[in-house]
Amino acid sequence: MARARKKFPTVPRHSSGVKPPGISSTFVPNHVAIVMDGNGRWAKERGLPRTAGHEAGELALLDAVYGALEIGVKYLTVYAFSTENWKRSPQEVKFLMNFNREVIHRRVEEMNQYGIKVRWSGREARLWKSVVDELKKAERKTSKNDQLTLTMCVNYGGRAEIADAMIEIAQDVKARKLKPAAITEKKIKKYLYEPTLPDVDLFLRTSGEQRTSNFLLWQSAYAEMVFMDVLWPDFDRRHLWQAIEIYAKRERRFGDAKPN
Ligand code: IPE
Ligand code: IPE
Ligand code: MG
Repeated sequence: MARARKKFPTVPRHSSGVKPPGISSTFVPNHVAIVMDGNGRWAKERGLPRTAGHEAGELALLDAVYGALEIGVKYLTVYAFSTENWKRSPQEVKFLMNFNREVIHRRVEEMNQYGIKVRWSGREARLWKSVVDELKKAERKTSKNDQLTLTMCVNYGGRAEIADAMIEIAQDVKARKLKPAAITEKKIKKYLYEPTLPDVDLFLRTSGEQRTSNFLLWQSAYAEMVFMDVLWPDFDRRHLWQAIEIYAKRERRFGDAKPN
């Protein structure tokens, strides 16, 4: 007997009423990674404190999530706090810790309603315990969902992730659970923070900066990079779809050559 399909509410439309572009599902990226950048500049332009920019970014994230659901992206991974962001002023760090915790707390029920699986990727050491607890609570609550996996990268660094994987690999080699010759690319992936996270297809960064800033180094080896000038608080699902349209026109070769 077929299992009853769980029904999800219709995703709220963007206020403009716009619908996603008609892109064949084969050209819709499975995994989109976003460096949500430009909050500070957005606030500065308005004569506001940097933190006001972070606050304004919450709705941008929510709209990006809806846009991803509407167009059929299965994995959305967002950079919320990097291992380098501890360099910022203690006030801003404190604000970001509290803010990340509160956003998860405020939004998890809504995410759950739409069948979104929330995951956290990052290094536990140094991250506030209350933030880790909230992230893990959200993971537990949404673990059975499968419409979209939203991975929040908090205290995440690509190099930290690889270094942490190396520690575990070395320990397993020492304990004779792993042979050095068995350390393949596939095996390394199993030691990353989120072993089931697929490779990034579309790597998107806002605010005009054109760098990865240590985001998903391993997973983005063959990602298509799209840089947009929009500052994160001004971002909405239309920008996401625009980036996907750019992505859909790219020719991905993965090192192969086209026959003449
Ligand atoms: C991105 O915006 C958010 C975080 C890094 C937490 P920024 O705070 O980096 O904004 P800009 O780059 O200074 O404008
Ligand atoms: C990357 O942005 C980190 C996040 C968006 C969380 P940054 O603003 O920290 O990166 P840099 O310093 O401009 O490279
Ligand atoms: Mg920045």
